Amino acid sequence: MSTTSLPDILSHLDSGVMTLTLNRVARKNSLTAAMYDALADALESASADAAVRAVVIQGHETVFSAGNDIGDFLDKPPSSPDAPVFRFMRVISRFPKPIVASVCGPAVGIGTTMLLHCDLIYAGDNAAFSMPFVNLGLCPEAGSSLLAPQWMGHPRAAEALLLGEPFMAESALEMGLINRIVPPAEANALAQRQALKLAAKPLAAVMETKRLLKKGNAALVAERIAEEAASFGRMLSEPAAREAFGAFMEKRRPDFSGL
Ligand code: COA
Repeated sequence: MSTTSLPDILSHLDSGVMTLTLNRVARKNSLTAAMYDALADALESASADAAVRAVVIQGHETVFSAGNDIGDFLDKPPSSPDAPVFRFMRVISRFPKPIVASVCGPAVGIGTTMLLHCDLIYAGDNAAFSMPFVNLGLCPEAGSSLLAPQWMGHPRAAEALLLGEPFMAESALEMGLINRIVPPAEANALAQRQALKLAAKPLAAVMETKRLLKKGNAALVAERIAEEAASFGRMLSEPAAREAFGAFMEKRRPDFSGL
């Protein structure tokens, strides 16, 4: 058993399960460049480490993640494909071992889109998923423009991505985005139990099954992540995103008239 403290991420390895806990609750687990790098580093070492047989990604029972840290994005806009946020997307999308997610409270932006790269997803009944990219003057990321319609169907993906309104755990379960809903205090423990079950199975069989499940999409996902990242990076410096982010920092409603 070992526990490591990365920037605002706790990493714990026990019985073949590496648990990554988003640990920046005061900022609603919003993700900074340092956190994306820490997550990508942890997943890359887990991929190569025979002692890791499954991964859990979890937050707090009140919040999974508020998505990108908007202040950090303004300070260090991810303008190149090597930016930590895009690196994290590539690493999680190619991760070869099973990932179990436990989601409670808000899961905004990449808090929702990273789930499209997880294998089993358990949610607290307080989970609120949202992909408000348009409301921020941005476009989908992490392959969500490809994967959300595949998982949810086009009409519901279009509603979620164009209107950007939150949808609750019940809707997410009904549309096939998550596996099960439990009381928030039980979600992390359930994810842990399911990951331990996976870790006890023959690793080669688990990995080959995951590879085959994802094979039809792998090249398309890589291509879409790159295309979205190019647009997302460009749109970050355009007026609509500047207005949306400025409004968030100033705690006012954005004014998109004329944009
Ligand atoms: N980036 C930076 N700071 C953030 C943040 C983010 N994405 N999300 C929340 N915070 C900060 C808030 O500014 C606030 O800071 P303060 O205490 O200095 O005022 C603190 O975290 C608590 O957030 P608050 O909004 O008061 O919590 P809430 O429970 O009322 O709402 C959310 C939670 C997640 C619904 C709300 O914070 C939110 O919508 N965040 C922005 C989500 C977003 O647009 N993400 C970008 C996606 S690309």
